[in-house]
Amino acid sequence: MMRAATQPIKRIAENLEGSGYAVVPAFLDAEVCTALAAECRALAAAGSLRPAAVGRGAGRGERPELRGDRTQWLDPAAATPAQAAYWRAMEALRVALNRALLLGLDELEAHFALYPPGARYVRHRDRFRDDDARVLSSVLYLNPDWRETDGGALRLYLPHASPSPADILPRAGTLALFLSAEVEHEVLPAARERLSIAGWFRRRAQA
Ligand code: OGA
Ligand code: MN
Repeated sequence: MMRAATQPIKRIAENLEGSGYAVVPAFLDAEVCTALAAECRALAAAGSLRPAAVGRGAGRGERPELRGDRTQWLDPAAATPAQAAYWRAMEALRVALNRALLLGLDELEAHFALYPPGARYVRHRDRFRDDDARVLSSVLYLNPDWRETDGGALRLYLPHASPSPADILPRAGTLALFLSAEVEHEVLPAARERLSIAGWFRRRAQA
């Protein structure tokens, strides 16, 4: 039992350390991903997803040509059973990564995201210039039967070594992890609706 849990964590830690990113297929069971996808779609149908903004401070605003997703933050205190499974798995990952890499991850913030067909998110970094709390970015994908021809890859521009970017398809159950400060990335437009939960492990501000 321990082995099964330890083995992937070792690989994840090595990949994060060596390449700045890691991909975990089947991070959550298919049934949980199906339920999460249904919840995201229900929020969209109820009009609860809001157009996401880019920028900070006075420059903050909606720029759908730069970022076309609609989002809603998850509230861990009001979690559905599927959302509770997400928080539990991410908490176990947080503790294990802190042990393996001393990243000092303190908390997680996460939102549902829905990209309509054709929507993109241009190349950017997740850590803000005026706020370095975000340490590790994560995206859990919720899309069954995703094919390469559907597009919608997460494209990572890796700071070291790799000459070409790494593309990750948004397949149900896949968790993408990358270092928020270093890894520039973009979301390529897709032919289909593209659902996910994006989460950021943060460290608490030092007093
Ligand atoms: C983001 C982001 C990537 C993805 O929300 O900041 O880059 O694959 N998402 O959805
Ligand atoms: Mn991002």
